[in-house]
Amino acid sequence: MALGLGRRRAHSLCFLFSLFLCLLISFSVEGELSLNYYSESCPRAEDIVKEEVEKLYHKHGNTAVSWVRNLFHDCMVKSCDASVLLESTNTTISEQTSQRSFGMRNFKYVKVIKDALEKECPSTVSCADIVVLSAREGVVMLGGPYINMRTGRRDSKESHIQEVDFIPNHNDSISLVLSRFQSLGIDAEGTVALLGAHSVGRVHCINLVGRLYPTVDPSIDPDYAEYLKGRCPSPEPDPKAVEYARNDRDTPMVIDNMYYKNLLKHKGLLLVDQQLISDSSTSPFVEKMAADNDYFYEKFSAALLLLSENNPITGEEGEIRNDCRFVNN
Ligand code: HEM
Ligand SMILES: *[C@@H]1O[C@H](CO)[C@@H](O)[C@H](O)[C@H]1NC(C)=O
Ligand SMILES: *[C@@H]1O[C@H](CO)[C@@H](O)[C@H](O)[C@H]1NC(C)=O
Repeated sequence: MALGLGRRRAHSLCFLFSLFLCLLISFSVEGELSLNYYSESCPRAEDIVKEEVEKLYHKHGNTAVSWVRNLFHDCMVKSCDASVLLESTNTTISEQTSQRSFGMRNFKYVKVIKDALEKECPSTVSCADIVVLSAREGVVMLGGPYINMRTGRRDSKESHIQEVDFIPNHNDSISLVLSRFQSLGIDAEGTVALLGAHSVGRVHCINLVGRLYPTVDPSIDPDYAEYLKGRCPSPEPDPKAVEYARNDRDTPMVIDNMYYKNLLKHKGLLLVDQQLISDSSTSPFVEKMAADNDYFYEKFSAALLLLSENNPITGEEGEIRNDCRFVNN
């Protein structure tokens, strides 16, 4: 009798356990990203992205800078789903046409990476994973840390042009910036670290003149203001003109903590950059990162990883685009 009861209990426990196991397996198959997702379907996928990013970097160094910005613009808007790569068609308005995307460049070279992957394993590696892996390798080419990113994202079937303004503007308040990143699970320290990406690349005058004319923003170092006015002599720059300034004039192609050193010297380029030292919820992190490059790398890596895993499309949703510029027919 006692034995019988025990057995029955064991059976139902066993049943529950297998149900649990089943759930566990289906979750990990469908809902999640994993390290080296393509290890069986396309074992060389990550190596190919690395090789192509390196080749492109040696031809056009600023491609590496673009891959880093692409991750931010893709992942911040709804999901890391390569929506930012879609071009305008009769039925689609590209996110690239938004004011927020001003200055984004090198999209045509995504095709070089995608074509190399399609040649090795057709219709297998998503454009969303290309966005993330190319950013990972771009950071390395720019002297930054190697970040072990997960893969297995799928591509959106639509542009999110209506949601692009979720990306903060260059002159938004610090509280707005922090709350946008907070909603992705990135705290103030992570936000400060992510903005360190502005240690590389350029800013067009159209995003700067608001701080220079009619009067110079008093938070800008006077010598730096002179440099900026020299770069941007007109209060109303032609948006098509390639007039720009650099944040980090010493190491403009290296992701390093020079960005924070510049902020402390009042040489921040955008208002969102310079504001990081005027708010008590962010300024201690600026000081720590300015003093310790390894600490910056550690926080930058963790925050970029979080950003790269914002709300991925996995399982049966979305698609694997054949051409990153257009949804499949
Ligand atoms: C509050 C958040 C942010 C704002 C408002 C912002 C805004 C901007 C603006 C206005 C530019 C210059 C565009 C131009 O005039 O050409 C720029 C450039 C850039 N941003 Fe951001 N950004 C933000 C966060 C980030 C993050 C989180 C990353 C990456 C982790 C990033 C990466 C870059 C890069 C690499 C460039 C240089 C692009 C180039 O030279 O081609 N930004 N950003
Ligand atoms: C897009 O619209 C134009 C003008 O209405 C039309 O001629 C063209 O065939 C359309 N293209 C596609 C791919 O539907
Ligand atoms: C911020 O900049 C945009 C142009 O990019 C401008 O239209 C807007 O008025 C500015 N906002 C503030 C508060 O200065």
